[in-house]
Amino acid sequence: MSTRRAAVVCGIGSYVPPDVVTNEDLARSLDTSDDWIRSRTGIARRRVVAPGTATSDLAVEAGLRALKSAGDGRAGAVVLATTTPDQPCPATAPQVAARLGLGEVPAFDVAAVCSGFLYGLASAAGLIAAGVTDRVLLIAADAFTTIINPKDRTTAVIFADGAGAVLLRAGSPREPGAVGPLVLGSDGGLSHLIEVPAGGSRQRSSGREPAPEDRFFRMVGRDTYRHAVERMTVTSTEAAERAGWRPCDVDRFAAHQANARILEAVSERLGIPGERRLSNIATVGNTGAASLPLLLAESAADGRLTAGHRLLLTAFGGGLSWGATTLVWPEVQTT
Ligand code: UT7
Repeated sequence: MSTRRAAVVCGIGSYVPPDVVTNEDLARSLDTSDDWIRSRTGIARRRVVAPGTATSDLAVEAGLRALKSAGDGRAGAVVLATTTPDQPCPATAPQVAARLGLGEVPAFDVAAVCSGFLYGLASAAGLIAAGVTDRVLLIAADAFTTIINPKDRTTAVIFADGAGAVLLRAGSPREPGAVGPLVLGSDGGLSHLIEVPAGGSRQRSSGREPAPEDRFFRMVGRDTYRHAVERMTVTSTEAAERAGWRPCDVDRFAAHQANARILEAVSERLGIPGERRLSNIATVGNTGAASLPLLLAESAADGRLTAGHRLLLTAFGGGLSWGATTLVWPEVQTT
């Protein structure tokens, strides 16, 4: 009987740019306060890119760390999940692969906003299952602040910059680190809840110059919040069940760091106690696609996530798009 070639996590790394922006810093230029941001989002500070820094710069740093963690600098493909590519064309992944010295490997971007890491996992698992390669470097990186309107207090206080990466190798579905059943979904009927209205073919073919604010990211916060809670709860339940687990029995729960209140609401609905919920939103904010691998890398490095933990992962973002999966955390070096 043939066994499916699974994608197995064998390396992890992350990177955040050095510049810190506190809530007090934001309150100097926006009608907001440290108290409002902390109580409504759980964020105290975040990291932001310096002028001239692009997503590929973050991605290369995280990718290097993941390759080092795997103890072998090889990868046969690069998948980059991002909403902030260095340029609209071409994809950023080939430049990242070249800068990492990986040679002429297949490399492409995945655009699924904050669900990008889980969609990227599906792409990477597909490359492995199809026999394209047996080692995929999956990086999720966003210089999200580059598309944020500095005058929009509902988004400027949440979004931030960072990158996380995992190295996936071909292996058995039964071994630690094997990515479990992936549940993914989308609802394009609600695309207007999270969008950058201008800069794409719709606006460019009109021949009209866009209003300056239409070049920036915008989000209908309240509605997005409601859908995020609902979708992450339902998909997490489905992914856990498909793995043969009950959500309340998982050892660690890692959800896209959208908002601390969303994370509490989702884990409460799933019956997962607070101490099993991984979170780093207080110090890094919402880093888009990077959020999940950045959380995993930090948690593995500081011991909150250890080998043998049954881990449930979920994300939600623009599209709308969402997903969830499971894995048993493997022995991996952290850097
Ligand atoms: O990562 C992809 C998915 N993203 C998400 O899941 C994010 C989902 N949404 C959210 O996290 C929240 O909706 C926000 C953090 C964006 C907003 O929090 P909220 O608790 O939903 O606030 P709200 O939009 O309902 O606004 C409540 C009040 C309003 O004032 P009034 O109308 O009650 O007088 C806003 O004008 O808070 C005001 N407000 C602010 N006040 C100070 C909104 N943003 C701010 C701000 N500082 N930054």
